[in-house]
Amino acid sequence: MNRTTTRWRAAVGAAVAGIGLVASTALVASTALTAQAAGSTLHAAASDQGRYFGTALAQGKLNDSQYTTIADREFGMITAENEMKMDATEPQRGVFNYSAGDRILDWAVGHGKQVRGHALAWHSQQPGWMQQMEGQQLRQAMLNHVTQVATHYRGKIYAWDVVNEAFEDGSSGARRNSNLQRTGNDWIEAAFRAARAADPNAKLCYNDYNIDNWSHAKTRAVHAMVADFKSRGVPIDCVGLQAHFNSGNPVPNNYHETLQHFADLGVDVQITELDIEGSGSSQAQQYSGVTQACLAVARCTGITVWGVRDTDSWRASGTPLLFDGNGQKKAAYTSVLNVLNDGEGEPGGGETTPPPTGGDGCTATYSEGQKWGDRFNGTVTVRADRAISSWAATVTVGASQRITATWSGTPTWDSSGKVMTMRPSGSGALAAGQSTSFGFTVMHGGDWTWPTVSCSAS
Ligand code: G3I
Repeated sequence: MNRTTTRWRAAVGAAVAGIGLVASTALVASTALTAQAAGSTLHAAASDQGRYFGTALAQGKLNDSQYTTIADREFGMITAENEMKMDATEPQRGVFNYSAGDRILDWAVGHGKQVRGHALAWHSQQPGWMQQMEGQQLRQAMLNHVTQVATHYRGKIYAWDVVNEAFEDGSSGARRNSNLQRTGNDWIEAAFRAARAADPNAKLCYNDYNIDNWSHAKTRAVHAMVADFKSRGVPIDCVGLQAHFNSGNPVPNNYHETLQHFADLGVDVQITELDIEGSGSSQAQQYSGVTQACLAVARCTGITVWGVRDTDSWRASGTPLLFDGNGQKKAAYTSVLNVLNDGEGEPGGGETTPPPTGGDGCTATYSEGQKWGDRFNGTVTVRADRAISSWAATVTVGASQRITATWSGTPTWDSSGKVMTMRPSGSGALAAGQSTSFGFTVMHGGDWTWPTVSCSAS
Protein backbone atom coordinates (compact mmCIF):
# COMPACT_ATOMS: atom_id res chain seq x y z
CA MET A 1 0.00 0.00 0.00
CA ASN A 2 1.23 3.48 -0.83
CA ARG A 3 2.54 4.88 2.39
CA THR A 4 1.68 8.50 1.71
CA THR A 5 -1.89 7.49 1.04
CA THR A 6 -1.99 5.36 4.16
CA ARG A 7 -0.53 8.05 6.33
CA TRP A 8 -2.88 10.61 5.00
CA ARG A 9 -5.83 8.36 5.62
CA ALA A 10 -4.79 8.12 9.26
CA ALA A 11 -4.62 11.87 9.58
CA VAL A 12 -7.99 12.33 7.98
CA GLY A 13 -9.41 9.55 10.15
CA ALA A 14 -8.30 11.44 13.23
CA ALA A 15 -9.99 14.58 11.98
CA VAL A 16 -13.22 12.73 11.30
CA ALA A 17 -13.07 10.94 14.63
CA GLY A 18 -14.26 13.97 16.47
CA ILE A 19 -11.59 16.58 16.63
CA GLY A 20 -13.98 18.84 14.81
CA LEU A 21 -12.42 20.36 11.78
CA VAL A 22 -13.41 24.00 11.92
CA ALA A 23 -13.51 25.64 8.56
CA SER A 24 -14.91 28.92 7.39
CA THR A 25 -16.76 28.57 4.12
CA ALA A 26 -15.97 30.42 0.92
CA LEU A 27 -12.23 30.50 0.43
CA VAL A 28 -11.27 27.60 2.67
CA ALA A 29 -9.31 24.72 1.24
CA SER A 30 -9.99 21.81 3.58
CA THR A 31 -8.82 18.22 3.76
CA ALA A 32 -10.40 15.47 1.72
CA LEU A 33 -12.82 14.05 4.25
CA THR A 34 -14.09 11.51 1.78
CA ALA A 35 -10.93 9.42 2.05
CA GLN A 36 -11.79 5.79 2.76
CA ALA A 37 -11.61 4.34 6.23
CA ALA A 38 -9.57 1.20 5.51
CA GLY A 39 -7.16 0.61 8.35
CA SER A 40 -9.54 2.29 10.77
CA THR A 41 -9.64 -0.73 13.10
CA LEU A 42 -6.82 -2.84 14.49
CA HIS A 43 -7.91 -5.89 12.53
CA ALA A 44 -8.31 -4.00 9.24
CA ALA A 45 -4.98 -2.24 9.62
CA ALA A 46 -3.18 -5.45 10.64
CA SER A 47 -4.76 -7.32 7.72
CA ASP A 48 -3.34 -4.71 5.35
CA GLN A 49 0.06 -5.68 6.74
CA GLY A 50 -0.65 -9.40 6.30
CA ARG A 51 -1.05 -9.90 10.06
CA TYR A 52 -3.88 -10.58 12.47
CA PHE A 53 -4.74 -8.57 15.54
CA GLY A 54 -6.49 -10.49 18.29
CA THR A 55 -7.76 -10.44 21.84
CA ALA A 56 -8.48 -12.86 24.65
CA LEU A 57 -12.17 -13.17 25.51
CA ALA A 58 -13.88 -14.52 28.62
CA GLN A 59 -17.11 -16.39 28.01
CA GLY A 60 -18.70 -14.82 31.11
CA LYS A 61 -18.58 -11.43 29.37
CA LEU A 62 -20.11 -12.43 26.06
CA ASN A 63 -23.40 -10.89 27.14
CA ASP A 64 -21.73 -7.52 27.76
CA SER A 65 -22.57 -5.64 24.59
CA GLN A 66 -19.88 -2.98 24.98
CA TYR A 67 -17.31 -5.76 25.28
CA THR A 68 -18.54 -7.76 22.30
CA THR A 69 -19.03 -4.64 20.17
CA ILE A 70 -15.38 -3.68 20.61
CA ALA A 71 -14.23 -7.27 20.15
CA ASP A 72 -16.22 -7.66 16.97
CA ARG A 73 -15.13 -4.32 15.53
CA GLU A 74 -11.42 -4.39 16.34
CA PHE A 75 -10.17 -7.96 16.43
CA GLY A 76 -9.83 -10.82 13.97
CA MET A 77 -8.33 -13.51 16.20
CA ILE A 78 -9.81 -14.76 19.46
CA THR A 79 -8.18 -16.67 22.33
CA ALA A 80 -10.26 -18.16 25.15
CA GLU A 81 -8.74 -16.56 28.25
CA ASN A 82 -9.41 -19.60 30.46
CA GLU A 83 -12.05 -21.80 28.82
CA MET A 84 -9.87 -24.20 26.82
CA LYS A 85 -7.38 -24.83 29.62
CA MET A 86 -6.94 -28.27 31.16
CA ASP A 87 -9.02 -27.63 34.28
CA ALA A 88 -11.89 -26.26 32.19
CA THR A 89 -11.95 -28.99 29.55
CA GLU A 90 -11.28 -32.10 31.66
CA PRO A 91 -12.56 -31.34 35.15
CA GLN A 92 -12.70 -35.05 36.01
CA ARG A 93 -10.39 -37.61 34.55
CA GLY A 94 -11.80 -38.77 31.21
CA VAL A 95 -14.83 -36.48 31.52
CA PHE A 96 -14.53 -33.62 29.06
CA ASN A 97 -16.50 -30.40 29.17
CA TYR A 98 -16.30 -28.13 26.17
CA SER A 99 -19.29 -25.92 26.89
CA ALA A 100 -17.41 -22.73 27.82
CA GLY A 101 -14.72 -23.23 25.19
CA ASP A 102 -17.34 -23.92 22.55
CA ARG A 103 -19.16 -20.77 23.50
CA ILE A 104 -16.09 -18.69 22.78
CA LEU A 105 -15.38 -20.61 19.59
CA ASP A 106 -18.98 -20.27 18.39
CA TRP A 107 -18.97 -16.54 19.07
CA ALA A 108 -15.69 -16.14 17.21
CA VAL A 109 -16.69 -18.22 14.21
CA GLY A 110 -20.13 -16.60 14.14
CA HIS A 111 -18.43 -13.22 13.87
CA GLY A 112 -15.97 -14.28 11.20
CA LYS A 113 -12.95 -14.55 13.50
CA GLN A 114 -10.18 -17.09 13.73
CA VAL A 115 -9.31 -18.81 17.01
CA ARG A 116 -6.06 -19.48 18.85
CA GLY A 117 -6.30 -22.46 21.17
CA HIS A 118 -4.88 -21.99 24.67
CA ALA A 119 -3.48 -24.27 26.12
CA LEU A 120 -3.21 -28.06 25.82
CA ALA A 121 -0.49 -28.88 28.37
CA TRP A 122 0.63 -26.67 31.26
CA HIS A 123 1.89 -27.14 34.80
CA SER A 124 -0.71 -24.61 35.97
CA GLN A 125 -4.50 -24.70 35.72
CA GLN A 126 -4.42 -28.47 35.94
CA PRO A 127 -7.59 -30.07 37.27
CA GLY A 128 -7.26 -31.35 40.84
CA TRP A 129 -7.06 -34.99 39.77
CA MET A 130 -4.09 -34.27 37.50
CA GLN A 131 -2.22 -32.22 40.09
CA GLN A 132 -1.97 -35.39 42.21
CA MET A 133 -0.45 -37.44 39.41
CA GLU A 134 3.15 -38.26 38.54
CA GLY A 135 5.12 -40.54 36.26
CA GLN A 136 3.78 -42.74 33.52
CA GLN A 137 0.19 -42.38 34.65
CA LEU A 138 0.46 -38.59 34.28
CA ARG A 139 2.23 -38.84 30.93
CA GLN A 140 -0.62 -40.95 29.57
CA ALA A 141 -3.26 -38.66 31.07
CA MET A 142 -1.56 -35.60 29.54
CA LEU A 143 -1.27 -37.20 26.10
CA ASN A 144 -4.88 -38.31 26.24
CA HIS A 145 -5.90 -34.79 27.16
CA VAL A 146 -3.96 -33.28 24.27
CA THR A 147 -5.45 -35.81 21.86
CA GLN A 148 -9.04 -35.43 23.05
CA VAL A 149 -9.12 -31.65 23.15
CA ALA A 150 -7.24 -31.15 19.87
CA THR A 151 -9.57 -33.70 18.25
CA HIS A 152 -12.67 -31.95 19.56
CA TYR A 153 -11.51 -28.68 18.02
CA ARG A 154 -9.94 -30.24 14.93
CA GLY A 155 -10.08 -27.99 11.87
CA LYS A 156 -11.30 -24.98 13.87
CA ILE A 157 -8.11 -23.72 15.46
CA TYR A 158 -5.59 -21.48 13.69
CA ALA A 159 -2.84 -22.25 16.21
CA TRP A 160 -2.64 -24.17 19.47
CA ASP A 161 -0.45 -23.30 22.42
CA VAL A 162 0.47 -26.95 22.78
CA VAL A 163 2.77 -26.44 25.75
CA ASN A 164 2.74 -23.40 27.96
CA GLU A 165 5.42 -22.01 30.30
CA ALA A 166 7.68 -25.03 30.61
CA PHE A 167 10.88 -23.15 31.43
CA GLU A 168 12.29 -21.77 34.66
CA ASP A 169 12.65 -18.02 35.16
CA GLY A 170 16.05 -16.60 36.01
CA SER A 171 19.51 -17.50 34.86
CA SER A 172 19.38 -21.31 34.92
CA GLY A 173 17.92 -21.85 31.46
CA ALA A 174 16.47 -25.04 32.89
CA ARG A 175 13.09 -26.63 32.42
CA ARG A 176 10.57 -25.79 35.11
CA ASN A 177 10.36 -28.52 37.72
CA SER A 178 6.74 -29.60 37.35
CA ASN A 179 4.92 -32.88 37.54
CA LEU A 180 4.86 -32.91 33.74
CA GLN A 181 8.62 -32.33 33.53
CA ARG A 182 9.17 -35.16 35.99
CA THR A 183 7.52 -37.56 33.54
CA GLY A 184 10.67 -37.19 31.39
CA ASN A 185 12.36 -34.47 29.38
CA ASP A 186 10.63 -35.60 26.21
CA TRP A 187 7.17 -34.68 27.51
CA ILE A 188 7.06 -31.49 25.39
CA GLU A 189 7.84 -33.16 22.10
CA ALA A 190 5.44 -35.98 22.96
CA ALA A 191 2.70 -33.38 23.44
CA PHE A 192 3.51 -31.78 20.07
CA ARG A 193 3.40 -35.13 18.27
CA ALA A 194 0.03 -35.95 19.85
CA ALA A 195 -1.35 -32.55 18.86
CA ARG A 196 -0.16 -32.92 15.26
CA ALA A 197 -1.77 -36.34 15.00
CA ALA A 198 -5.07 -35.01 16.36
CA ASP A 199 -5.25 -31.81 14.29
CA PRO A 200 -2.81 -31.80 11.38
CA ASN A 201 -3.90 -28.37 10.15
CA ALA A 202 -3.47 -26.32 13.29
CA LYS A 203 -0.19 -24.51 13.75
CA LEU A 204 1.49 -25.86 16.87
CA CYS A 205 3.14 -23.31 19.16
CA TYR A 206 5.32 -23.33 22.23
CA ASN A 207 4.14 -20.38 24.39
CA ASP A 208 5.93 -18.67 27.28
CA TYR A 209 6.49 -15.41 29.16
CA ASN A 210 9.81 -13.68 29.90
CA ILE A 211 11.27 -14.80 26.60
CA ASP A 212 11.24 -11.26 25.19
CA ASN A 213 14.82 -10.24 25.96
CA TRP A 214 17.34 -11.90 23.70
CA SER A 215 20.09 -11.72 26.31
CA HIS A 216 18.10 -13.62 28.96
CA ALA A 217 18.89 -17.25 29.70
CA LYS A 218 15.25 -18.30 29.50
CA THR A 219 14.92 -16.85 25.99
CA ARG A 220 18.05 -18.66 24.85
CA ALA A 221 16.90 -21.91 26.41
CA VAL A 222 13.55 -21.83 24.61
CA HIS A 223 15.35 -20.89 21.40
CA ALA A 224 17.68 -23.87 21.82
CA MET A 225 14.74 -26.22 22.39
CA VAL A 226 12.98 -24.99 19.25
CA ALA A 227 16.21 -25.32 17.25
CA ASP A 228 16.56 -28.87 18.54
CA PHE A 229 12.94 -29.69 17.66
CA LYS A 230 13.37 -28.34 14.15
CA SER A 231 16.59 -30.31 13.66
CA ARG A 232 14.94 -33.56 14.79
CA GLY A 233 11.65 -33.09 12.97
CA VAL A 234 9.49 -32.57 16.06
CA PRO A 235 6.35 -30.90 14.70
CA ILE A 236 6.51 -27.29 15.85
CA ASP A 237 5.30 -24.34 13.77
CA CYS A 238 5.43 -21.32 16.01
CA VAL A 239 6.66 -19.67 19.17
CA GLY A 240 4.25 -17.59 21.21
CA LEU A 241 5.71 -14.74 23.22
CA GLN A 242 3.17 -13.84 25.88
CA ALA A 243 4.55 -10.30 26.31
CA HIS A 244 3.23 -9.26 29.72
CA PHE A 245 5.11 -6.04 30.40
CA ASN A 246 5.25 -3.59 33.29
CA SER A 247 7.70 -1.10 34.79
CA GLY A 248 9.77 -3.90 36.32
CA ASN A 249 9.72 -5.80 33.06
CA PRO A 250 9.59 -3.23 30.24
CA VAL A 251 9.68 -3.98 26.54
CA PRO A 252 13.36 -4.77 25.92
CA ASN A 253 15.35 -2.76 23.39
CA ASN A 254 16.30 -5.96 21.61
CA TYR A 255 12.72 -7.20 21.19
CA HIS A 256 12.91 -7.10 17.42
CA GLU A 257 16.14 -9.10 17.59
CA THR A 258 14.45 -11.75 19.74
CA LEU A 259 11.55 -12.14 17.33
CA GLN A 260 13.95 -12.38 14.40
CA HIS A 261 16.10 -15.03 16.10
CA PHE A 262 13.07 -17.24 16.68
CA ALA A 263 11.82 -16.66 13.15
CA ASP A 264 15.24 -17.57 11.79
CA LEU A 265 14.67 -21.08 13.13
CA GLY A 266 11.94 -21.52 10.52
CA VAL A 267 8.92 -21.02 12.78
CA ASP A 268 6.26 -18.33 12.92
CA VAL A 269 6.37 -15.91 15.80
CA GLN A 270 3.19 -14.70 17.48
CA ILE A 271 2.76 -12.18 20.28
CA THR A 272 0.10 -14.03 22.20
CA GLU A 273 -0.90 -12.23 25.42
CA LEU A 274 0.26 -8.65 25.08
CA ASP A 275 -0.40 -6.21 27.88
CA ILE A 276 1.73 -3.29 29.06
CA GLU A 277 1.01 -1.67 32.41
CA GLY A 278 1.05 2.12 32.50
CA SER A 279 -0.72 5.01 30.85
CA GLY A 280 -0.41 7.88 28.43
CA SER A 281 2.49 8.38 26.11
CA SER A 282 4.92 6.05 27.84
CA GLN A 283 2.48 3.15 27.53
CA ALA A 284 1.64 4.19 23.97
CA GLN A 285 5.30 4.25 22.97
CA GLN A 286 5.89 0.77 24.35
CA TYR A 287 2.86 -0.53 22.49
CA SER A 288 4.07 1.05 19.27
CA GLY A 289 7.52 -0.45 19.86
CA VAL A 290 6.08 -3.95 20.17
CA THR A 291 3.95 -3.45 17.08
CA GLN A 292 6.89 -2.12 15.08
CA ALA A 293 9.02 -5.06 16.16
CA CYS A 294 6.40 -7.50 14.90
CA LEU A 295 5.98 -5.69 11.59
CA ALA A 296 9.75 -5.73 11.12
CA VAL A 297 9.85 -9.53 11.23
CA ALA A 298 8.29 -11.21 8.22
CA ARG A 299 7.32 -14.31 10.20
CA CYS A 300 5.69 -12.39 13.05
CA THR A 301 2.18 -13.29 11.97
CA GLY A 302 0.08 -11.50 14.54
CA ILE A 303 -0.47 -9.84 17.88
CA THR A 304 -3.06 -10.73 20.50
CA VAL A 305 -3.77 -8.48 23.47
CA TRP A 306 -4.78 -10.18 26.71
CA GLY A 307 -8.23 -8.67 27.10
CA VAL A 308 -10.40 -5.90 25.71
CA ARG A 309 -10.77 -3.10 28.31
CA ASP A 310 -8.45 -2.31 31.20
CA THR A 311 -11.13 -3.57 33.56
CA ASP A 312 -11.16 -6.95 31.82
CA SER A 313 -7.45 -7.52 32.45
CA TRP A 314 -5.94 -10.01 34.88
CA ARG A 315 -3.86 -6.97 35.87
CA ALA A 316 -6.72 -4.45 35.87
CA SER A 317 -5.06 -2.09 38.35
CA GLY A 318 -2.15 -1.66 35.93
CA THR A 319 -4.50 -0.42 33.14
CA PRO A 320 -2.49 -2.43 30.61
CA LEU A 321 -4.83 -2.67 27.61
CA LEU A 322 -5.91 -0.59 24.61
CA PHE A 323 -9.40 0.43 25.79
CA ASP A 324 -10.25 2.06 29.10
CA GLY A 325 -12.93 0.80 31.47
CA ASN A 326 -15.55 2.75 29.54
CA GLY A 327 -14.58 1.13 26.28
CA GLN A 328 -12.86 4.27 24.99
CA LYS A 329 -9.75 4.03 22.84
CA LYS A 330 -6.59 4.96 24.72
CA ALA A 331 -3.46 6.67 23.40
CA ALA A 332 -1.95 3.19 23.25
CA TYR A 333 -4.70 2.16 20.83
CA THR A 334 -3.97 5.09 18.53
CA SER A 335 -0.25 4.42 18.57
CA VAL A 336 -0.77 0.77 17.62
CA LEU A 337 -3.20 1.71 14.87
CA ASN A 338 -0.81 4.34 13.50
CA VAL A 339 2.05 1.86 13.41
CA LEU A 340 -0.13 -0.71 11.66
CA ASN A 341 -1.20 1.89 9.11
CA ASP A 342 2.28 3.29 8.50
CA GLY A 343 4.57 0.55 9.41
CA GLU A 344 6.03 3.26 11.66
CA GLY A 345 5.21 4.58 15.12
CA GLU A 346 6.03 8.15 14.48
CA PRO A 347 4.48 10.86 12.37
CA GLY A 348 5.17 10.55 8.75
CA GLY A 349 5.94 6.89 8.42
CA GLY A 350 8.94 7.78 6.31
CA GLU A 351 7.08 10.51 4.45
CA THR A 352 7.45 14.09 5.51
CA THR A 353 4.41 15.72 3.94
CA PRO A 354 0.80 14.75 3.25
CA PRO A 355 -0.81 15.95 0.04
CA PRO A 356 -1.15 19.74 0.24
CA THR A 357 -4.64 21.09 0.84
CA GLY A 358 -5.17 23.43 -2.04
CA GLY A 359 -8.14 25.42 -3.22
CA ASP A 360 -9.16 28.90 -3.99
CA GLY A 361 -6.46 31.39 -3.09
CA CYS A 362 -3.86 29.43 -1.15
CA THR A 363 -2.49 25.97 -0.54
CA ALA A 364 -1.36 24.71 2.89
CA THR A 365 1.26 21.96 3.19
CA TYR A 366 2.28 20.31 6.45
CA SER A 367 5.85 19.07 6.86
CA GLU A 368 7.13 17.24 9.85
CA GLY A 369 10.05 18.54 11.85
CA GLN A 370 12.06 17.16 14.73
CA LYS A 371 10.61 14.42 16.95
CA TRP A 372 11.23 13.70 20.58
CA GLY A 373 9.73 11.14 22.95
CA ASP A 374 6.89 13.38 24.05
CA ARG A 375 6.51 15.94 21.23
CA PHE A 376 7.16 16.82 17.63
CA ASN A 377 7.58 19.96 15.58
CA GLY A 378 5.65 20.76 12.45
CA THR A 379 5.82 23.43 9.77
CA VAL A 380 3.00 24.69 7.59
CA THR A 381 3.85 26.34 4.30
CA VAL A 382 1.19 28.61 2.85
CA ARG A 383 1.54 29.15 -0.87
CA ALA A 384 -0.44 31.81 -2.71
CA ASP A 385 -2.24 30.41 -5.76
CA ARG A 386 -2.90 34.00 -6.93
CA ALA A 387 -1.97 37.39 -5.61
CA ILE A 388 -3.46 37.63 -2.10
CA SER A 389 -3.55 40.42 0.47
CA SER A 390 -3.65 38.10 3.50
CA TRP A 391 -4.19 34.52 4.64
CA ALA A 392 -5.29 32.46 7.66
CA ALA A 393 -4.35 28.84 8.24
CA THR A 394 -6.00 26.38 10.61
CA VAL A 395 -4.11 23.58 12.33
CA THR A 396 -6.25 20.90 14.00
CA VAL A 397 -4.64 18.50 16.44
CA GLY A 398 -5.83 15.21 17.96
CA ALA A 399 -7.77 14.82 21.19
CA SER A 400 -4.69 13.89 23.20
CA GLN A 401 -2.42 16.38 21.43
CA ARG A 402 -1.68 19.95 22.48
CA ILE A 403 0.18 22.74 20.69
CA THR A 404 2.62 24.20 23.21
CA ALA A 405 4.70 26.59 21.15
CA THR A 406 4.40 28.47 17.85
CA TRP A 407 6.67 30.67 15.76
CA SER A 408 6.51 32.95 12.72
CA GLY A 409 2.82 33.80 13.09
CA THR A 410 0.09 35.04 15.41
CA PRO A 411 -2.15 32.25 16.73
CA THR A 412 -5.70 32.29 18.06
CA TRP A 413 -7.58 29.28 19.40
CA ASP A 414 -11.08 27.87 19.35
CA SER A 415 -12.77 26.92 22.62
CA SER A 416 -11.65 23.26 22.41
CA GLY A 417 -8.00 24.32 22.22
CA LYS A 418 -7.56 21.81 19.42
CA VAL A 419 -7.96 24.18 16.49
CA MET A 420 -5.39 26.91 16.05
CA THR A 421 -5.86 29.64 13.48
CA MET A 422 -2.57 31.16 12.49
CA ARG A 423 -2.41 34.59 10.86
CA PRO A 424 0.60 36.50 9.57
CA SER A 425 2.42 38.58 12.18
CA GLY A 426 3.00 41.40 9.71
CA SER A 427 1.67 41.85 6.22
CA GLY A 428 0.13 38.72 4.74
CA ALA A 429 0.42 39.88 1.16
CA LEU A 430 1.88 37.29 -1.19
CA ALA A 431 2.40 37.40 -4.94
CA ALA A 432 1.06 34.50 -7.00
CA GLY A 433 3.31 31.48 -6.35
CA GLN A 434 4.99 33.03 -3.32
CA SER A 435 5.14 31.11 0.01
CA THR A 436 5.50 31.74 3.70
CA SER A 437 5.84 29.33 6.63
CA PHE A 438 5.07 29.08 10.34
CA GLY A 439 5.88 26.41 12.86
CA PHE A 440 4.66 24.85 16.10
CA THR A 441 5.38 22.14 18.68
CA VAL A 442 2.83 19.42 19.52
CA MET A 443 2.89 17.43 22.78
CA HIS A 444 1.56 14.23 21.25
CA GLY A 445 0.14 12.40 24.29
CA GLY A 446 0.83 9.13 22.49
CA ASP A 447 -0.95 10.17 19.30
CA TRP A 448 1.59 10.62 16.54
CA THR A 449 -1.01 11.51 13.93
CA TRP A 450 -0.15 14.56 11.88
CA PRO A 451 -2.23 17.66 12.45
CA THR A 452 -4.72 18.57 9.73
CA VAL A 453 -4.10 21.89 8.02
CA SER A 454 -6.03 24.18 5.73
CA CYS A 455 -5.86 27.80 4.65
CA SER A 456 -8.02 30.59 3.36
CA ALA A 457 -6.99 33.76 1.52
CA SER A 458 -8.36 37.21 0.97
O1 G3I B 1 -14.47 -17.86 37.52
C1 G3I B 1 -14.04 -18.03 38.87
C2 G3I B 1 -15.07 -17.48 39.83
O2 G3I B 1 -16.27 -18.20 39.69
C3 G3I B 1 -14.51 -17.56 41.22
O3 G3I B 1 -15.41 -16.93 42.09
C4 G3I B 1 -13.20 -16.86 41.31
C5 G3I B 1 -12.57 -16.97 42.70
O4 G3I B 1 -11.20 -17.27 42.65
O5 G3I B 1 -12.29 -17.43 40.38
C6 G3I B 1 -12.75 -17.32 39.05
O6 G3I B 1 -11.79 -17.92 38.21
C7 G3I B 1 -10.60 -17.19 38.00
C8 G3I B 1 -10.42 -17.04 36.51
O7 G3I B 1 -9.21 -16.43 36.23
C9 G3I B 1 -11.55 -16.24 35.84
O8 G3I B 1 -11.52 -14.92 36.30
C10 G3I B 1 -9.46 -17.96 38.59
O9 G3I B 1 -9.56 -17.99 40.00
C11 G3I B 1 -8.16 -17.32 38.19
O10 G3I B 1 -7.09 -18.17 38.60
C12 G3I B 1 -8.10 -17.18 36.68
O11 G3I B 1 -6.93 -16.46 36.38
C13 G3I B 1 -6.48 -16.62 35.04
C14 G3I B 1 -5.04 -17.09 35.05
O12 G3I B 1 -4.56 -17.14 33.72
C15 G3I B 1 -4.92 -18.46 35.67
O13 G3I B 1 -3.66 -18.92 35.55
C16 G3I B 1 -6.60 -15.29 34.32
O14 G3I B 1 -8.00 -14.98 34.15
C17 G3I B 1 -5.94 -15.38 32.95
O15 G3I B 1 -5.88 -14.09 32.40
C18 G3I B 1 -4.53 -15.90 33.11
O16 G3I B 1 -3.97 -16.02 31.84
C19 G3I B 1 -2.62 -16.44 31.83
C20 G3I B 1 -2.42 -17.29 30.60
O17 G3I B 1 -3.33 -18.35 30.60
C21 G3I B 1 -0.99 -17.79 30.51
N1 G3I B 1 -0.06 -16.72 30.61
C22 G3I B 1 -0.21 -15.83 31.73
C23 G3I B 1 -1.63 -15.28 31.77
C24 G3I B 1 -1.76 -14.29 32.88
O18 G3I B 1 -1.63 -14.90 34.13
